[in-house]
Amino acid sequence: MKGVKVVGFGHYCPENIISNKDLENIVDTTDEWITKRTGIKERRISSGEGTVELAYKAAVAALKNSNCGSDDIDLIIVATTSPDKIMPSTACSIQGLLGCNKAVAFDISAACSGFVYSLIVASSLIKGTDKKRALVIGAEVLSRIVDWNDRGTCILFGDGAGAAVIELSNEEEGIVSTCFSSDGGLGEKSLVAGQLELNTPFAKEKISEKRYIEMKGAEVFKFAVSVLPDVVNDLLKKADERIENIKYIVPHQANLRIINEAARRLDIDKDKFYINVDKYGNTSAASIPIALSELFEKGLIKRGDKIIIAAFGGGLTWAGALIKF
Ligand code: UT7
Repeated sequence: MKGVKVVGFGHYCPENIISNKDLENIVDTTDEWITKRTGIKERRISSGEGTVELAYKAAVAALKNSNCGSDDIDLIIVATTSPDKIMPSTACSIQGLLGCNKAVAFDISAACSGFVYSLIVASSLIKGTDKKRALVIGAEVLSRIVDWNDRGTCILFGDGAGAAVIELSNEEEGIVSTCFSSDGGLGEKSLVAGQLELNTPFAKEKISEKRYIEMKGAEVFKFAVSVLPDVVNDLLKKADERIENIKYIVPHQANLRIINEAARRLDIDKDKFYINVDKYGNTSAASIPIALSELFEKGLIKRGDKIIIAAFGGGLTWAGALIKF
């Protein structure tokens, strides 16, 4: 039986730490409000590094932790909503920097679900084509698309990158079950960013640029608390697995209240969820790979452990995977 296993992780976040107190000097907010409503205490914000640079540093760490060289990689997928450029793709820039000359490289846009989408696409390509080993990265400099005058959103987001190396395996471990879905109608109404200008000699009506994240927080919150337990239950069902056998659930790190509510709905202990939203805020596509990389760095995952990753976000999109190590 052909499976796909995760070989190693790496992550990199900017060194610049911005606390809730720092944000009190920028918008009308308080440390107390942010902590109570989101669980976030601080986030990393780029003071000059772009998405390619963050992604590159995470990729180098993942390759090192996987004992892989540039020539071992056949496929590079980067999930991002905040690329440095429209063209070339972030993945192609990473390919050039790493010298992964025999790889094919492209980006995936699925907001906060982007890393899980990319993992699923990479895993399918590994099973179905001649690509046998992939570098999958989630990387964001969200600070460039955050409206620093909007207290409803600017307190939530952070910058960072996480990466994984996955490869074809004949062993039992690996990506056991997956799910991914989207709802484009709901997405347009509740969470948008980065509208590009259309101002050509042929445009009947000019479309102006709307660069920043605009979110109906309460609507996205409602969506998130319902979809997170659904993803977990779907993955367990597909894998014929029980929640008791899952060591950690690694959710998209958007808001501690969303995670607590998901734990309540699933009727499980909150401790089963790995949480680092307090340190990084919401880093969108980077949040799950940063968390996975931290889990490994801390030695919290052993061979044979099973974990679930579960994401939700703009699009709207949601996705998950059950992985056995
Ligand atoms: O990764 C993408 C997915 N995104 C998410 O998962 C985000 C989901 N949504 C959320 O996490 C929450 O909706 C927020 C954290 C964004 C907002 O929390 P909330 O409990 O839904 O607050 P709210 O938007 O209903 O606002 C409550 C009050 C309002 O004041 P009034 O109208 O009651 O006087 C806001 O103006 O809190 C006010 N407020 C703030 N006050 C202090 C909003 N932002 C702030 C702030 N500091 N930063």
